[in-house]
Amino acid sequence: MTRGHDRTMKVTYQFCCIAPLQHHGLGQSAGSKAKSCRVVRRVTVPPVSGDKAHFRSRARRGSLRANHPRRSRRLRPLCRLCPGLSKVFVLQTPYYLIDKTRLLPNLEKIAYLRDASGAKCLLALKCFAAWSVFDFMSDYMDGSTSSSLYEVRLGHEKFPGETHAYSVAYADHEIDQVLECSDKIIFNSIGQLTKFNAVSAGHIRGLRVNPGVSTSEFDLADPARPFSRLGEHDPAAIAGIADQISGLMFHNNCENDSFARFDEMLTLIEDRFGETLHKMDWISLGGGIHFTGEGYPLDQLAARLKGFAATYGVQVYLEPGEAAITGAATLEVTVLDTMHNGKNLAIVDSSVEAHMLDLLIYRESAKMTPDAGDHEWMICGKSCLAGDIFGEFRFPAPLQAGDRLSFQDAAGYTIVKKNWFNGVKMPGIAIRELDGTIRLVRDFGYDDFAAALS
Ligand SMILES: Cc1ncc(COP(=O)(O)O)c(C=O)c1O
Repeated sequence: MTRGHDRTMKVTYQFCCIAPLQHHGLGQSAGSKAKSCRVVRRVTVPPVSGDKAHFRSRARRGSLRANHPRRSRRLRPLCRLCPGLSKVFVLQTPYYLIDKTRLLPNLEKIAYLRDASGAKCLLALKCFAAWSVFDFMSDYMDGSTSSSLYEVRLGHEKFPGETHAYSVAYADHEIDQVLECSDKIIFNSIGQLTKFNAVSAGHIRGLRVNPGVSTSEFDLADPARPFSRLGEHDPAAIAGIADQISGLMFHNNCENDSFARFDEMLTLIEDRFGETLHKMDWISLGGGIHFTGEGYPLDQLAARLKGFAATYGVQVYLEPGEAAITGAATLEVTVLDTMHNGKNLAIVDSSVEAHMLDLLIYRESAKMTPDAGDHEWMICGKSCLAGDIFGEFRFPAPLQAGDRLSFQDAAGYTIVKKNWFNGVKMPGIAIRELDGTIRLVRDFGYDDFAAALS
């Protein structure tokens, strides 16, 4: 199995700046002043390849300064002896910063729930597929689940453990590879199960069931919306094919942070599909349960899942996406220009439409912390879309070109949805390790833009 690997070396960043470094997503203590966000960073170079002096002399000459605008655009190695160095030192915005110290508490809760309930937890790649942290996550999870051929292949290649395949519909030319890459396949309809019956006969198979109720507050994301295509809904029809499958998948929770509501939903499922549940070996209850949130009654959830598993004699699976990665990444940007048109406007080197698309789709504001001070600014994207606006936030001082800002909650349904609208530079992907070191694991440039088109 191919695993994620580091392509760059680790570097410890030290900031001479006295800014609230939360703006940089780097978790410095509060109480400092925002204006110093502009201060150039100093970089400490750890010994690499035993050539300390070599690095020091380059650092002294200034060629290793972070944020050097000219060098940062070219991703040429700054040093012949140290390929990849430019990618490390020149953390040119925009980039997503995945912080393992923020990821870890979610993962620990997942591990606790697994232990206490017996349920297995699979990462939903549709939400988060930045595979450089899959090895780290896999210590706390059982595998991954997917929504397409490419996702199941990614899970198979990069996420140790079980790999579940699901898709709203598979094409004829996809099915062989989907089966090769997966331990289980979950069909969305009886039609697809029937169509691929012969080819999938030796595989562990399941069916998605739509219980007709959900906790979604958005019509757009409601799997139980009228005329939904997401799963079979008729208990009799499902019972009719029960002998062809060994499991069912339900996904009807959506950012549900209420255990009582989850419990209510599960009871409805039991009432409606109980007879078929008894015939199954495994049941996936999907994602959307916000059990890693502050104050969520994990023990009650664990007891409910354990009881459910015992009642029906099944292995329970959960498919957390958002719950696994919530709060774990930021989008790091730089102010390029400021204007005033009835409000203070700051234009950053990013775009909501291209880099945080869900905010537009669900008409929500980005999050920035701290969001305090006497100066209110509207933070705008650099695409041509008039409504490309991240939101309005408060700062302790007026913003200026060169200021660094950091949008919170940029992991879920964000990195996976980035696109090339307007040819805006796609954010790179950086990882903050548990020891505070930061490494850039992916950068995108013109070649990637051109390669995505023809
Ligand atoms: C089938 C399925 N499983 C899991 C998930 C992950 O949900 P969440 O990210 O809300 O936990 C989704 C999200 O749409 C889904 O459709």
